[in-house]
Amino acid sequence: MKDVIEEKVEKILSKMTLEEKIGQMQQISFNAVPAEVFDGMKKTGIIGSYLHVLGSETSAFDESVQKSRLHIPPLFGIDAIHGHALLKGATVFPSQLALACSFDDDLLEEVGCVTAAEVAADGLDWVFSPVLCLARDLRWGRVDETFGEDSFLASRLGAAMIKGYQKEGHVAACAKHYFGYGEATGGRDCYDSEISDRKAYEIFLKPFQAAVDAGSMTVMVSYGSISGTPLTASEKWVRKTLKEKMGFDGFVVSDWFNFQSLIDGQKVACDMEEASILGITAGVDMSMNSYQFFDTAQQAVREGRLSEDLIDDAVRRILRVKAKLGLLDAVRPARPTRKIIGCKEHQKINYRAALESAVLLKNNGVLPLRNVKKIAVIGPNANDICAQYGDWTYFSHPEPNPSAEPCEGIYTVLKGIKERFCEAEIKYAKGCSVLGEESAEESEKMMREALAVVQDADVVIAVVGDVLRQNGEWHDRAHLVLSGRQEELVSRVKTMGKQVVSVLVNGKPLVLTAIEKNSDAIVETFNGGDMCGLAIADLLCGKENFTGKLPVSFPYDSAATPCYYNQYDYWHGGKYIDVPAGSPYPFGFGLSYAWFEYSEPVLSKGTANIGETVTLSVEVKNCGEVDGIETVQLYFRDKVCKVLTLVRSLIGYERVAINAGGRAVVTFEIPTDRLGYYNENCEYTVDSGEFDFFVSGDGLRFRSVCLTLL
Ligand code: BGC
Repeated sequence: MKDVIEEKVEKILSKMTLEEKIGQMQQISFNAVPAEVFDGMKKTGIIGSYLHVLGSETSAFDESVQKSRLHIPPLFGIDAIHGHALLKGATVFPSQLALACSFDDDLLEEVGCVTAAEVAADGLDWVFSPVLCLARDLRWGRVDETFGEDSFLASRLGAAMIKGYQKEGHVAACAKHYFGYGEATGGRDCYDSEISDRKAYEIFLKPFQAAVDAGSMTVMVSYGSISGTPLTASEKWVRKTLKEKMGFDGFVVSDWFNFQSLIDGQKVACDMEEASILGITAGVDMSMNSYQFFDTAQQAVREGRLSEDLIDDAVRRILRVKAKLGLLDAVRPARPTRKIIGCKEHQKINYRAALESAVLLKNNGVLPLRNVKKIAVIGPNANDICAQYGDWTYFSHPEPNPSAEPCEGIYTVLKGIKERFCEAEIKYAKGCSVLGEESAEESEKMMREALAVVQDADVVIAVVGDVLRQNGEWHDRAHLVLSGRQEELVSRVKTMGKQVVSVLVNGKPLVLTAIEKNSDAIVETFNGGDMCGLAIADLLCGKENFTGKLPVSFPYDSAATPCYYNQYDYWHGGKYIDVPAGSPYPFGFGLSYAWFEYSEPVLSKGTANIGETVTLSVEVKNCGEVDGIETVQLYFRDKVCKVLTLVRSLIGYERVAINAGGRAVVTFEIPTDRLGYYNENCEYTVDSGEFDFFVSGDGLRFRSVCLTLL
């Protein structure tokens, strides 16, 4: 198969003119490139890719491709980030951050599969997903798009999603944004990331290596720079590392206008010809939207400033992906019908995704809600589908529509509660807005209405959080608090002596100190997609049990960040003098209606040679009265090492279903050659010595056992 593809690619490449080759390396979108330029390029029929075209518009490109000499179809790329969500009517899944709470590789594969089916049915070929940046600085605007803070979790979930996207062979995945983009200094989007080579290998490249190993057909290079070198111009990180060292044989696309940014943003090139030379030499194979590239890249080759071999390498990679997708076949492979877009089958999977995405952070016994007669639902996010969806949906791109109403078959929390608690009396009032931008008079009126609604309620469900404007590109936040009067709303309700269940609908972890004080239970949903409201109602009434665990740590204070779990621990005092150490809800945390107890973990042998595989087993008992699913997490630490080691590193996890009163033994295989580190010279090394292994179900309490490597 590989040879057939390579043969096909070489045959086409040998016939191509320079203009046709550079055409393949150009990607444009109608909403970024001047209309006359767009139309002119479209007419040539030789443009390699378009983005943000929805399926019904793709046929408009057929004629020019047919008229062109070689009839090479373009790749249609789309930001299907959590479902094919730019298309109204398609399945909108929970955000990546929400999905990561599942710690469920199979679920992520299914989500990828469903998304790819809807994208393919819509006539498109390429999803710009998954995001493999790590959310270690919570101020960064794009935390919601990530799998959280841990590179092992991001590696596993990312690989699973890529497998799902590419399973049926119609759609290419895109691992992005290569790399270290989330680590921008100060959490400021696109700013420089100070990352040493050692840390790059130890943390940030790992999810991309997993993506390469999973066969991701494309990679998107980040807007950012690593220690002062823009990734788009970095031969070291793109060509030498990603392609040569890590073995990536697909193609690399720039991010939005990255070639242009080399000139007027990062100022490392004086004009587009120089930018084209820098980017292509670095190993970037396709230019997103910087449309002058089409002329300047040709010019650079004609002037002898750029070798045509580099162009051939790029075009070969692009054609290889097109060949793998069957786009170069005389008869294109059949795609799913449009009927499957947003179908019931897909929403069933979406419901499961929403269930697994919810995390129970606190419960003093108020949940599950039984025999409640009067429920007050309050809070600005109780009935706001736009806030619930988060970024990258038809609401957010291209036009934000903050007042969007939920449609048929889509559940806000209010709608879910009304449906599941149909025998109770449900009263609703918003209480306040998220941003607090209304007049003082309007604000008072809203608050009064909510307090009136709460008056005779048995329980209050307060749905608070953030809105789209507080997340996404260009939307980094310095203050990680609940904005507007949301904290006051919850506190005033509590003062009325009510039982309060706070449900969070938000893009990223926030400081919950005030909410925690005034809530009897707290549920985190992040951005839960179409079915979030129904899933939450089923969880609140106890029809379903919570299984989610946090993929990211919550901060005690906006200034007490970063607070990710796997830090170095040598730090005088270990904490700020005015804020507790660590995180109130750390990575791995999540409660259930069941209660799990762990035995001491046992190793198959206490001493092993480097290279051997040992097993670690732990017995988990469900001491609760309901069945549950526990995610057993395994961490390790090299006790003494030549470089600083992280306090703990996740090295395994497994979801296990255990009936009430039942037990399960979970066994992890540990290949000891995975216990290494990158030394000062960036060489991967496994040392002999003692290694601690920790098992945990909540990121707070650990049972440990020690292995000696000879
Ligand atoms: C984002 C990418 C996205 C691209 C295309 C950029 O601004 O950083 O994540 O895929 O736009 O929409």
